[in-house]
Amino acid sequence: MSGHEENEYTDSFVGALELVWGDGFLSPGGKEEIALFLEGLDISGKEVLDVGCGIGGCDVVLARDFGAAHVHGIDIEQPLLQRCVERAEREGLSDRLSYEKVNPGPFPLPDESFDVVFSKDAMIHIEDKHALFADVFRVLRPGGVFLASDWMRRDEEPPGPETQHWLDIVGLTFGMHSPPVYIDALEAAGFVDCSTLDRNEFLIRVLRADYSLITGEGREELIDRTGEEAQHFTDVWLAALRAAEVGELRPGHLRAFKP
Ligand SMILES: C[S@@+](CC[C@H](N)C(=O)[O-])C[C@H]1O[C@@H](n2cnc3c(N)ncnc32)[C@H](O)[C@@H]1O
Repeated sequence: MSGHEENEYTDSFVGALELVWGDGFLSPGGKEEIALFLEGLDISGKEVLDVGCGIGGCDVVLARDFGAAHVHGIDIEQPLLQRCVERAEREGLSDRLSYEKVNPGPFPLPDESFDVVFSKDAMIHIEDKHALFADVFRVLRPGGVFLASDWMRRDEEPPGPETQHWLDIVGLTFGMHSPPVYIDALEAAGFVDCSTLDRNEFLIRVLRADYSLITGEGREELIDRTGEEAQHFTDVWLAALRAAEVGELRPGHLRAFKP
């Protein structure tokens, strides 16, 4: 597994993402989107691993709003994890949220140690989905569930000009794949009842709203948070919106069960 390097989520990038997606979130949709991908499943009392926890907003939602007994967040960026620890303290959840800096590659975690593996929009950074899902399977207890969302591609063809432009300017390292590759990797790992739910239209709605915020009433706040990089971030949002509109950038939910 390789891909994303440390320190790609700079302070100003995190500031821009929190402006559009809310305090604690480096991905869109917040609690509502998490509720959608937990739909029909009860995680109360469960031990959860969050792969690519970012700045910890999802973990607070999982523990406080959905009753997870414990969430262990892992990420490769130490400064983000520091923010997670501070957020857990502010929320009075330090006894139920723990954090660990990891290196890209196999998780430094024991076999069969979690009931749920959760991940929101982080696995895009990990190129080898087969190795990744084999490791997710390993750390899940029998009967456990893998619940995630990720930014996927429509297919495995070379990107068209709109998507290539976004990839060229976004400043993050991605290992993007299409839903069939995810399903194949999940099944090869041993998961059953594997499914994906397309969220392309949701992303288009979100990015349009974000773009009008950062070019309109939120412009000054974006400049406050990102300084000279404000126009760069604006360009990145428009490029992502175009990649989604042409149908190549297709986020989706993933669900799979360990027998
Ligand atoms: C788009 S952010 C999402 C953060 C969080 N899940 C959220 O929804 O707010 C992606 C996160 O994945 C992390 N990441 C990238 N590669 C990783 C890896 N190999 N293992 C764990 N985390 C990784 C990044 O540092 C970043 O915090």
